[in-house]
Amino acid sequence: MTLRCCVIVLLLHLTGKVFLQDSENIFVHVVGDSVTLPCLYENEQSDVFWRYNVGKKVLSIINGQLSLEDQDTIFQNRTESSSSGYVNGNYSITLKNVELIHAGNYTCFIIKFDKKKKLQLFVKEKPKEPAQKQRNSSMETQSQKIMTFLTALLGLTLHFI
Ligand SMILES: *[C@@H]1O[C@H](CO)[C@@H](O)[C@H](O)[C@H]1NC(C)=O
Ligand SMILES: *[C@@H]1O[C@H](CO)[C@@H](O)[C@H](O)[C@H]1NC(C)=O
Ligand SMILES: *[C@@H]1O[C@H](CO)[C@@H](O)[C@H](O)[C@H]1NC(C)=O
Ligand SMILES: *[C@@H]1O[C@H](CO)[C@@H](O)[C@H](O)[C@H]1NC(C)=O
Repeated sequence: MTLRCCVIVLLLHLTGKVFLQDSENIFVHVVGDSVTLPCLYENEQSDVFWRYNVGKKVLSIINGQLSLEDQDTIFQNRTESSSSGYVNGNYSITLKNVELIHAGNYTCFIIKFDKKKKLQLFVKEKPKEPAQKQRNSSMETQSQKIMTFLTALLGLTLHFI
């Protein structure tokens, strides 16, 4: 039983599928990306505040209208919010051309229902030499084959424990 458990953990590690955090609300992007941060409150209309870290204003949605009043300067000209979604409770926003400074915690407050959704954004530097990846792609394919083989082997092993 213990062995079976260890094998499963090993297998998960090998396939890189171990997520310690609630991965659904974690976003990892590189500098320059556009990032859509989802916030859905199905078919319910409400005022909504999007805030960053400790209370910095990203944007607000008031009476079904987008408000950029007092928007923090780091978000100026970078936010997109589709007002056509508001009636269906889609308060998702898009941040364009993200920089390292945009990493952090974003909270979507659904005011009327006293609900909130927290999302964490990580922003990484762009990989420096994307060309190298391509030249080495045959190696990657090779290791992928080995991985498939290992996975099959471990799957087989599991059968016999
Ligand atoms: C945003 O765009 C406006 C008009 O294009 C410009 O005047 C302003 O300086 C821009 N703000 C930032 C922070 O880039
Ligand atoms: C919500 O709106 C965003 C655009 O702001 C869109 O990308 C997304 O697909 C919409 N989600 C749903 C479930 O309609
Ligand atoms: C964001 O939230 C996580 C935990 O949810 C915390 O560990 C982290 O320090 C927060 N980041 C910032 C910049 O506040
Ligand atoms: C492929 O990557 C290895 C390191 O994993 C490196 O030593 C080697 O020079 C790379 N090959 C090419 C053709 O870039």
